[in-house]
Amino acid sequence: MSALTFTPAATARRITDDERARILAAPGFGQHFTDFMAHARWTVSEGWTGAELVPFGPLQLSPAAAVLHYGQEIFEGMKAFRHADGSVWTFRPEQNARRMMRSARRLALPELPERDFLESVRALVAADEPWVPQPEGETSLYLRPFMFASEEFLGVRASHTVDYYVIASPAGAYFPRGVQPLVVWVTDTYARAGAGGTGAAKCGGNYASSLLAKNEAVSHGADEVMFLDSETHTAIDELSGMNVFAITRDGRILTPRLTGSILEGVTRESVLQLAADRGLQPVETTLVMSEVLDQISSGEITEMFACGTAAVITPIGEYRSQDGTWTIGDGGSGQTTLALREELTGIQYGRVPDRHGWLTRLV
Ligand code: COI
Repeated sequence: MSALTFTPAATARRITDDERARILAAPGFGQHFTDFMAHARWTVSEGWTGAELVPFGPLQLSPAAAVLHYGQEIFEGMKAFRHADGSVWTFRPEQNARRMMRSARRLALPELPERDFLESVRALVAADEPWVPQPEGETSLYLRPFMFASEEFLGVRASHTVDYYVIASPAGAYFPRGVQPLVVWVTDTYARAGAGGTGAAKCGGNYASSLLAKNEAVSHGADEVMFLDSETHTAIDELSGMNVFAITRDGRILTPRLTGSILEGVTRESVLQLAADRGLQPVETTLVMSEVLDQISSGEITEMFACGTAAVITPIGEYRSQDGTWTIGDGGSGQTTLALREELTGIQYGRVPDRHGWLTRLV
């Protein structure tokens, strides 16, 4: 199959420079979208064709499109960062391309070749370059590649027509309170994923199934919900959209091992590397929630944080459950957590040498 080329459609910009500047000054998260979107279509008979960049706007979709009924959909999350010299870069995009292929396999969707994934992202960011915020503060252009079953058919089988898009959204901090420590509710009612399920895939269904528990968390005054494993309800899986880490007094950094039911986070993997670089001992293991809470109480666990592309690294200050409340350290942002965050964002924004070769230039 020959490589896809995403060619821009001739189009007028949707909004004025002034309006875009106003949005970029305080973008929030996921609220504003750029001028273009990348698109390609897959059919059983022709494979991937019709690559194009089109103006961002509503899709035309049959009410019988399979995705609306059976949820056959996957997505990715990435960011484009502007460096001080004006150039624009992204972080480990090949990891997102490969994870999207793994997610596609699990959801019986077609795999988009890595080079086409990378080209769709490059072409979109090149066309939407004015939307990449200046590197003040911590704003970036959040990129959302996604793929869904668009065939007009109500039979339950893998769709014969699939649409792939990349949309882009200027982004500030993911949580409205910024990088403030999170209050996390531990649910003992709901699970996010089970053995043999789709927990390791980045599919919309995982997020849909987390929402009721998230509402439960919010009703207890928490920002996020912690899911435990579905079989024993004892071991930490992840938050509704982020991996979890703990740092111990004796210099270990702990995170749940990849069981097949948690997401293989790109930030998770990068944190393990950066932590090892600074002499911490990374341990991927089963983290039993009751033991973690005991170690928080005894002071053996000194810091915890959540991580993901959108949230970067965000400290966890407190756990709440039906059984009580646990404050981690002094409830503030831990020193090592903030140092890891500073280093990761430093690499992403070009302030710290990219010693692992994680950056790819887009513009
Ligand atoms: C990301 O970190 O990019 C995510 O996918 C988490 C959430 C915004 C869905």
